[in-house]
Amino acid sequence: MTDLLFVDASQVVTCAGPPRARRGAEMRDAGVHAGWAVAVRDERIVDVGPQAALEREFAGAERIDCRGGVLTPGLVDSHTHAIFGRARYEEQEMRAAGVPYMEIARRGGGIHASVRDTRSRTEDELVALAAPRLMRLASYGTTTVEVKSGYGLTTESELTQLRAIARLSAMLPLRLVPTWLGAHEIPLEYRESGEARASYVKLLIDHMLPAVTREQLAKFADVFCEPGVFTTDETRRILTAARQAGLALKLHADELEPAGGAELAAQLGATSADHLAAISPRGIEALAGSQTVATLLPGTMLFLGKGTQAPARALIDSGAAVALATDFNPGTSPTVNFPLMLTLGVSQLRMSVAEVMLAATVNGAAALDLAERVGQLAAGFSADLALFDAEDVRELPYWYGDRRCRGSWVRGKPCHPYELPLT
Ligand code: NIG
Ligand code: FE
Repeated sequence: MTDLLFVDASQVVTCAGPPRARRGAEMRDAGVHAGWAVAVRDERIVDVGPQAALEREFAGAERIDCRGGVLTPGLVDSHTHAIFGRARYEEQEMRAAGVPYMEIARRGGGIHASVRDTRSRTEDELVALAAPRLMRLASYGTTTVEVKSGYGLTTESELTQLRAIARLSAMLPLRLVPTWLGAHEIPLEYRESGEARASYVKLLIDHMLPAVTREQLAKFADVFCEPGVFTTDETRRILTAARQAGLALKLHADELEPAGGAELAAQLGATSADHLAAISPRGIEALAGSQTVATLLPGTMLFLGKGTQAPARALIDSGAAVALATDFNPGTSPTVNFPLMLTLGVSQLRMSVAEVMLAATVNGAAALDLAERVGQLAAGFSADLALFDAEDVRELPYWYGDRRCRGSWVRGKPCHPYELPLT
């Protein structure tokens, strides 16, 4: 039995409360405590409370000296496309010159460019490319990462990506959650006619999905539901089949134009609806009245230079559960910096610090159906923790772009180095 006692933090931010998504006014208090400690036994947190009491109770524990830092639940990044080959830096200047994201895709770039590249890679190459990227995510305090396929768009290539995720999951100290996103784009070779397009949807449902579930390679199915990509009708068919095959559901919804994606997510009982920068008032109402988590990705709008953001305030104020994530991907959000999303949450989405902290922990976990054991510093939860060089939790969004994470732990084991040089 190995006991750890995290002591001498300036603040312990527990995010503790019911083991489910927090919505509306429930997001106002992240549980910030001075003078508290956290006790860990094996993979779980066993006690959280005033340090003096825990020091008596866990007198024999190994002490982890937090040196006046802020201790939080490990951050939960519930939306990434971290499996890819080369970067796509050529597109940023095209957008700067006025060519929109969707137009770049119409010209065969965008997702298609990553598809061409990813199809040419072996599983070993994808693992070798993704491992250091995932550890960069970890170096900012992220301990759980959802990773989507979606740059293969053939059964073999999608399986290769998902197998790479499974290997990374066994190899790395992070907790990974795999999502099948075969419906990320209509591949170029299926675009000549309506029939060709329909045959890709058929391939997804009849071949790719059964192959993915046969090998148990994914927990979620996701679809890019957007005008010019998959229609709401196609999305409904793909996700209904995925649910029947035993997968939980996610949607890329209302990212660039409102098209009823959020309403569909609520109707299907999806675990999350993601992006939502162009959600309609009816979409907001639908999510507020559902269990579906609204996952907002402010880095994407920032990087695309959109000047608009998802209506986080309207979502929270009408009672929806909001999560934040990076959308880490080579096209629209090449960032591994989750704390920067907290900054954007406060400065662009007008969320409070408590709201961004809960959005990045408990609600991120809820967006992965993990809220019963991940995302809180509370007895019984997985010992996933992050320690930041800061005296006050409000510094996390404040020092924007900075890497303040000193260390992290997943299931009670070190994930990111603890002995970083002090700032
Ligand atoms: O979440 N919107 C669709 N998918 C990604 C972008 C993928 C890419 O451009 O490579 C996103 O923004
Ligand atoms: Fe995405």
